[in-house]
Amino acid sequence: MPPRPVYLDYHATTPLDPRVWRAMEPYFLTEFGNPASASHAYGWTAAQAVQRARAQVAALIGASPKEIVFTSGATESDNLAIKGMAHLHHGRPAHLITTAIEHHAVLDPCARLEQDGFAVTRLGVDAGGCIRLPELQAALRPETILVSIMAVNNEVGVIQDMEAIGRLVHARGIALHSDATQAAGKIPVDVRRWQVDLLSISGHKMYGPKGVGALYVRDGLPLACQLDGGGHERGLRSGTLNVPGIVGLGEAAALAQAGLEEESARIAALRDRLLQRIVSRLDGVRVNGSLTQRVPHNLHLTFHGVEAEALMMSMPELAVSSGSACSSAARSASHVLLALGLSSGQAQASLRFGLGRFTTEQEVDFAADRIVACARQMRELATP
Ligand SMILES: Cc1ncc(COP(=O)(O)O)c(C=O)c1O
Repeated sequence: MPPRPVYLDYHATTPLDPRVWRAMEPYFLTEFGNPASASHAYGWTAAQAVQRARAQVAALIGASPKEIVFTSGATESDNLAIKGMAHLHHGRPAHLITTAIEHHAVLDPCARLEQDGFAVTRLGVDAGGCIRLPELQAALRPETILVSIMAVNNEVGVIQDMEAIGRLVHARGIALHSDATQAAGKIPVDVRRWQVDLLSISGHKMYGPKGVGALYVRDGLPLACQLDGGGHERGLRSGTLNVPGIVGLGEAAALAQAGLEEESARIAALRDRLLQRIVSRLDGVRVNGSLTQRVPHNLHLTFHGVEAEALMMSMPELAVSSGSACSSAARSASHVLLALGLSSGQAQASLRFGLGRFTTEQEVDFAADRIVACARQMRELATP
């Protein structure tokens, strides 16, 4: 048995890459200056570090550095994008479109705007987890101000066709936001090719630190700021910059970009191995979400006749999850799985496996053995 539980919850958070930590450390200690201090070298050094990180983050997503706004994470980026667009239209009829499978960081700002009088359409998805383009087309109205569609789902790892979505939305002159929290550093992200106007990312989902993220804001796009103060970040997000965090996000972005192809191939092979080692020895297992339109590090399975919570509890040597970390306290069936057409019972028999940069073949084999043994045992106990 491994000394610590095998970590298979890379969607909830990723460990900090030691190279990211080494890049950050000086900015906690010796290089502690405030980048807004324009009158001395401490400030200049910090400002240079932020500038470098801005370029690194921009390079990962095909943006230009001036289009990057640093935030506290993807939750804040999503809120700034959605409320920031909506608040430009106060007092006028306005309509937003999103999907039923978004993270709560998108769903909840939309729900709040709905309470405030905005109209919101939530698109459903097909059994594979993808939105249907004709449905999106039909939902666009003259008063639609924003479409917000996640690039990769955080539960089932399904990738949306952002390029086709971007083409369709832009042809109508409507702004497009994408929550790319689970996409950045995992698949190629290109804001120009996708024709997105706003795009959210988070440090701790790509081997960077927690509490830092970014919002890409297309040059020239008007946006109502949500945090007033000293006018940092082009007036879009006031508050002294989190320099060590931003340096970490930048380094994480650079590492992700440099290793993307090789890392994806390695992790996809491990994910396929995990799947094969489970389904070849256990009946009644179904994969949720498309296997082809999917990020390499995600596997989401339903184990028929097995209660997922109980299965997890029976395998303390594995760190896995039954859904989104942020909403798992709620204990209700996942809105994502229900949107994919699973019954509440099927949803509650499902587990998410998230693999990542530090996952090894031995860990995958150990995990598969434990999953098979524990699921079999639970089924035996359940048969009278
Ligand atoms: C798709 C998606 N959006 C937003 C978030 C929120 O990110 P953060 O923790 O950086 O606020 C998460 C985190 O689970 C996520 O997976």
